[in-house]
Amino acid sequence: MRPTKTLSPVHPRLDDCECTPSVKHLFLRHHILQTPMFFIRWIYAALYSLYLLFVLRAPTDRDIVDFIENTTMAMLIRPAADDKPGEYKVTVNDCKLRASGGYKLKNMSLGYNKGQSGAYILYFTRNGVEVSNRSQIFSTIYFYHIFSMHPKSHLFSNSLVRHIVDNDIKALKESSYTSIPLHKELLHPSLNPLGGNVPKYLGYGLPCIRERLVEESRNMSVLEGHQVVHRSNLHGKDSFVGKLFRSRLALQGVMKRHEIDPKLLDALFNHTIVHSADHVNNSERSFLRFSLHPWDKECSLYKAFNTSVVRVLFAQPNLNPLAPNTIRSINKPFYQDLYKELKKIDPAWADVVTASVMY
Ligand SMILES: *[C@@H]1O[C@H](CO)[C@@H](O)[C@H](O)[C@H]1NC(C)=O
Ligand SMILES: *[C@@H]1O[C@H](CO)[C@@H](O)[C@H](O)[C@H]1NC(C)=O
Ligand SMILES: *[C@@H]1O[C@H](CO)[C@@H](O)[C@H](O)[C@H]1NC(C)=O
Ligand SMILES: *[C@@H]1O[C@H](CO)[C@@H](O)[C@H](O)[C@H]1NC(C)=O
Ligand SMILES: *[C@@H]1O[C@H](CO)[C@@H](O)[C@H](O)[C@H]1NC(C)=O
Ligand SMILES: *[C@@H]1O[C@H](CO)[C@@H](O)[C@H](O)[C@H]1NC(C)=O
Ligand SMILES: *[C@@H]1O[C@H](CO)[C@@H](O)[C@H](O)[C@H]1NC(C)=O
Repeated sequence: MRPTKTLSPVHPRLDDCECTPSVKHLFLRHHILQTPMFFIRWIYAALYSLYLLFVLRAPTDRDIVDFIENTTMAMLIRPAADDKPGEYKVTVNDCKLRASGGYKLKNMSLGYNKGQSGAYILYFTRNGVEVSNRSQIFSTIYFYHIFSMHPKSHLFSNSLVRHIVDNDIKALKESSYTSIPLHKELLHPSLNPLGGNVPKYLGYGLPCIRERLVEESRNMSVLEGHQVVHRSNLHGKDSFVGKLFRSRLALQGVMKRHEIDPKLLDALFNHTIVHSADHVNNSERSFLRFSLHPWDKECSLYKAFNTSVVRVLFAQPNLNPLAPNTIRSINKPFYQDLYKELKKIDPAWADVVTASVMY
């Protein structure tokens, strides 16, 4: 007998993105409506990044703590071991990520304090070695967020989309758009920004090894006990995790009203709300000067430029204004209902949520 777990309709498979017959139409739609946006956006990214060179500044303790608390990194926050009030830690072990040049990120550990006088870093170690430079700390945390934490919100998307298409779930049609072809492009052996053969200029390149990203993505256990459901108390209802938790409840209610299989809850939650909120908040603090490669010893103008091109191109929401696929823009009962519920939690948050992984 099979364990009941395999009965779940969706599975975490980042690399299940082949163009099989049933999803062919989604590839066509993606190539017409979404792919061109990357080229248009690239021009904007380059110009905007030139401007940013005049205003960039080094990250401070406050920036590091804000970044962690306002993205999915917040799920890793724990109270410090001795329960000192206002002291927190973030620990990562057995990480599989590798940066270009043969650098391995195996583990990291951050302690910080938050009090009336602001936030400050107590310690930060990477592979057991202390790092004190704030730019390098920010860069390491950023690297871990975009290549390990954030991809976890993409994990269920391919399988969810196939489930929607194969079962012809009309109410969720918009949630099938773009995700599979996007993953195909991002993970393509030669065209991807993670070490493919594309000309590596103007910042189209990411410093993480593709195979390692996929391998790391298979390990969800870093999230065990970190699930939104268990984590909201520590953070308060208006924190990032608190809002995620409330959004999940809202989604659950709306799914029930529209008679959508409750087994799809977490996959749909990650695919829509978690993914977009995490992107939007990752792309804030665009004025920080740091190198994308956590082991860089200096951050030249060129590197700072590279970083902001990548941030504008891959981290900021990149949507076709004629077909944005935000839940707000979809004039169908399920999505409008969800939009209304999320607006009660945070109007700005509700506005950025997309029906599927779009960028
Ligand atoms: C980030 O989080 C801090 C504290 O949780 C909050 O004060 C700040 O406004 C947040 N910043 C953004 C951009 O959401
Ligand atoms: C972190 O990685 C370093 C280098 O591999 C290792 O020496 C150290 O024991 C690790 N620390 C933990 C807590 O796993
Ligand atoms: C800028 O990014 C490109 C693409 O990743 C890379 O080839 C180039 O070496 C980077 N330049 C610097 C100075 O890091
Ligand atoms: C998965 O990640 C957890 C937590 O970081 C770690 O303890 C575990 O060893 C990893 N498992 C594998 C198979 O890498
Ligand atoms: C995605 O869904 C899984 C459950 O299917 C959950 O454990 C995980 O916390 C979710 N990911 C994020 C980033 O919330
Ligand atoms: C970023 O996260 C905070 C919660 O920590 C939230 O209040 C804010 O709305 C988020 N920003 C966006 C643009 O979603
Ligand atoms: C910190 O590291 C950055 C590059 O990551 C470098 O530009 C800066 O000079 C370093 N700061 C100090 C005080 O060493």
